[in-house]
Amino acid sequence: MRAIYKNKKLFLLVIFVITGLLSAISVVSSQADENLSDKEIIKRFNKIFYYSYAWRKDNPKWLGVPSLQNPCDNWVIQEIICEVKPDFIVETGTFMGGTALFYATVLEKVNKNGKIITVDIKPQVEEAAKVDIFRERVEVIKGDSVSPEVINAIAKKVKGHKTLVVLDSCHEKEHVLKELKMYSNFVSLNSYIVVQDTHIDGRPTLPGFGPGPMEAVEEFLKTTKDFKIDYDREKFLLTFCPSGFLKRIK
Ligand SMILES: C[S@@+](CC[C@H](N)C(=O)[O-])C[C@H]1O[C@@H](n2cnc3c(N)ncnc32)[C@H](O)[C@@H]1O
Repeated sequence: MRAIYKNKKLFLLVIFVITGLLSAISVVSSQADENLSDKEIIKRFNKIFYYSYAWRKDNPKWLGVPSLQNPCDNWVIQEIICEVKPDFIVETGTFMGGTALFYATVLEKVNKNGKIITVDIKPQVEEAAKVDIFRERVEVIKGDSVSPEVINAIAKKVKGHKTLVVLDSCHEKEHVLKELKMYSNFVSLNSYIVVQDTHIDGRPTLPGFGPGPMEAVEEFLKTTKDFKIDYDREKFLLTFCPSGFLKRIK
């Protein structure tokens, strides 16, 4: 009887100590959370948000077609389309065409003659092409986005027209830098060249990717005064294109 009583006392003591330890840990960790800067919280959330797509393999869709975008960025680009009302939106990196379809749906409302040109080395637009507006307004060019054939074909089409550009093909620095140099020539005054996925290579996602879109932007901006980063376009705080909304100011 005495042994049971003694064990019970010991048991209660152990429970008491564990509970105390757990509360101490939770107080310390909640203080640590409070010490995180807003910038750090946004960075962390960006990373969690990005990987949650990758884990679920369930990308956002527009009209049922995958659009490999952070919806906050699509929303901001929608705002840019409504302000600029471009005649052409040029996208590099079509993938399944959901984003081109999204641009087409918005553009139709603000420029009845507006068209999308989208380039991919291997476009997969079978689903997108089932939607009327895609067939009516989106031209898919198959090829390397920086090849002379592709650049010349686009240059002929957009010459003299108000043009907005979004870069989302190969994300290696050298490729993006080439795209920036070539496609920036198409961008009209007060329009934009949007460089997608500047958040990779540990900013904060995909550490170890190697030099990518962010490094390309940094190098491009050393060579020109015609563009400036429009930080106001990061207004939803959660963007996959930090420093990637480049506005033509000259
Ligand atoms: C990130 S995905 C594009 C996603 C698409 N913009 C969207 O929002 O759904 C990248 C695409 O770039 C294409 N790509 C890769 N290298 C390319 C190149 N050199 N020229 C053109 N397209 C390329 C790939 O085939 C792939 O479909």
